[in-house]
Order: sequence, then structure tokens, then C-alpha cells
Amino acid sequence: MIADLILNPLQPHVSEAQFEQLTQLMATHFRQHGNGPKWDNALANIPDLSDSRCDFSSDVIRVLADTGMDQLRASLESLMPWRKGPWHLLGIDIDTEWRSDWKWQRLAPHITSLTGRDVLDIGCGNGYHLFRMLGDGSKFALGVDPTRLFLYQFALVKKLMPSNNAHILPLRSEHLPAFACFDTVFSMGVLYHRRAPLDHINELISFLRPGGELVLETLVVPGNAQTILVPEDRYAKMANVWFLPSTLALELWLKKLGLRNVRTVDVCQTTTDEQQQTAWMQFQSLADYLDPENKDLTIEGYPAPRRAIMVANKPD
Ligand SMILES: C[S@@+](CC[C@H](N)C(=O)[O-])C[C@H]1O[C@@H](n2cnc3c(N)ncnc32)[C@H](O)[C@@H]1O
Repeated sequence: MIADLILNPLQPHVSEAQFEQLTQLMATHFRQHGNGPKWDNALANIPDLSDSRCDFSSDVIRVLADTGMDQLRASLESLMPWRKGPWHLLGIDIDTEWRSDWKWQRLAPHITSLTGRDVLDIGCGNGYHLFRMLGDGSKFALGVDPTRLFLYQFALVKKLMPSNNAHILPLRSEHLPAFACFDTVFSMGVLYHRRAPLDHINELISFLRPGGELVLETLVVPGNAQTILVPEDRYAKMANVWFLPSTLALELWLKKLGLRNVRTVDVCQTTTDEQQQTAWMQFQSLADYLDPENKDLTIEGYPAPRRAIMVANKPD
């Protein structure tokens, strides 16, 4: 069921050969998760709405309808934790762990206008930013993310909306063909999860058309062009963090891989207002990952999370 919900709407946007390739990739890499039946149920209880009204242009993704839906709250709660947002869905406010709108506010002034562009968001989570991309004018917003829960959250939200051009492929970016057609490619919060960060950047380049724009957002550390932190074990309690470069080291990587107009457009330390526990995400959050005596250090003694946004172009 979830696989059909994902693949079928994509068919008109890709060639026959690409659709066949994506169908095969889904068959190889997409496996049902242990919670699948519970999550399928959460979706099955929600009818498709085609007469709702959506607003993708402000910080909260809003879906409005003239009447509420009794079963919606229970379905949304079955899909907790909600990490990326905020959302307002038929009268229900979802206060997510992350203020994902803050990241969008930081990057939006620095990127080429998305009007009319085809965009790809690698590691898109539940798709919050895909809707912001549509809100800022993009004509086709494709997300890629292997985490099943996020896919279900996205599928549920889509059921509440008239059809639109945000889509998710539940795959890892390294499984994708080199599309070489997207006008803008985003990778936000993914690079530090990759053991081979330069290979990840090369993948991103392979998805761009010549001249297209890369928007890369990742964790960085203070330092010079040769500074790269490799955490011994966990970083801010995360087990899967491999390389944290300085912004200068990251700029060097991007230039070395042939990108042009490489620039760091924003750097900021994450606050416990931007990432926190909420009613919709009841697990630990940033406040639990920092040194209680010194908020500039993680609990392991590394520099506290600081995120940079880089923008660059693929050569023509
Ligand atoms: C920290 S979250 C960032 C989500 C969103 N991009 C944002 O900035 O708020 C990282 C996301 O990357 C996804 N991810 C991790 N490895 C990936 C890979 N190899 N390909 C695509 N997505 C990946 C995870 O499932 C997760 O949803």
C-alpha cells in the first residue's frame, strides 16, 4: 500500500525507463518495518481529501478544511515522534522537535529563486521542507529518505491535501541513478551521517544539471581548512556521526570536487529553542545532549552542535 502511494504519483514525472528503474530499486531496497501494520492502519483510517486548502508559504505548513476529522488525532499520534515541522492539520497543531522553519529562514535569502525549478531534497525527513520548496515556487519537489516513519508521516499529510508535486522516494541517495537533471539539490543534515562524505557530495553533484545549484547543510566545528573532527564514539549522543569539518575544510572539499561559486552563507550554533522535546516528540533532545555545566560543549566534551549552510554550483 505505502509503496503504491509513493511510486504511482511519480510516474508522470519520469521517463518510462526511469520509472522501471525506480520500481526495481524499491523492490530491492524497500522493506516493510516492524511497525508497518500499525502505521498502515493509521493511514487506512484517513480518507483522501481533495477539497482542503493548503498554505505552504509560511512557517507552519497549514492544511485547512471546513470540517474536522475525528480519527485524525489518533492517526497522527500513532506516527509519533514528529521531529520536523511545524504543521497545522485540520485544526491540530503539531509542535515538532525541530523548528525546521528556522533552517528555511536561514537559507532562503541565499539561494537562487526556486520559481519554476525541479528540486531534489536528499534526506528530506517527513517532507516539511518539500512543501516549503513548493511554497517558494518550485514546480516539482522530490525527496529521498530511507526512514519508514517519516515516509508514513508524509503519506498521511498528503492524504489531507489536493494532489501536489511533492513526492518522496524511500531510498538511500547512494541507491539512486545519476539523474543529472535537477535545478537545485539540497542535502541537509545528511553529510555527517555518511562514512564517505566526499562520495556523498559527488552523488549530489551527479543529480544536478550542469550549472545547477547545490545547497548543503551540515554540522561543522570551529577551525582552519585542515580541521576535521572525527568523534571517537558518540557525538551529542548520536552513534552515527563520522566527519565534522570546519567550514573552511568543507569549502575545500567542495572546490576539490569541481564545484564553482562555493560559499558559506550561514553558520549558527543550535539552541534548545530550535531543537527540543515537545508533546509530539517525547524522547530526549538537545538539552540532554549538552554538558550541563557548559552549553558550548556536548556531553562528550566536543564543541556543541553548530550548523553551516553552503551554496555552490555545478560547472556548466
Ligand atoms: C538530521 S535528519 C535531516 C532532515 C531534514 N533534511 C532537515 O534538515 O531537517 C537526516 C535525515 O537523513 C536521512 N538519511 C540518512 N542517511 C541517508 C542516505 N544515505 N540517503 C538519504 N537520506 C538519508 C535520515 O533518514 C534522516 O531523515
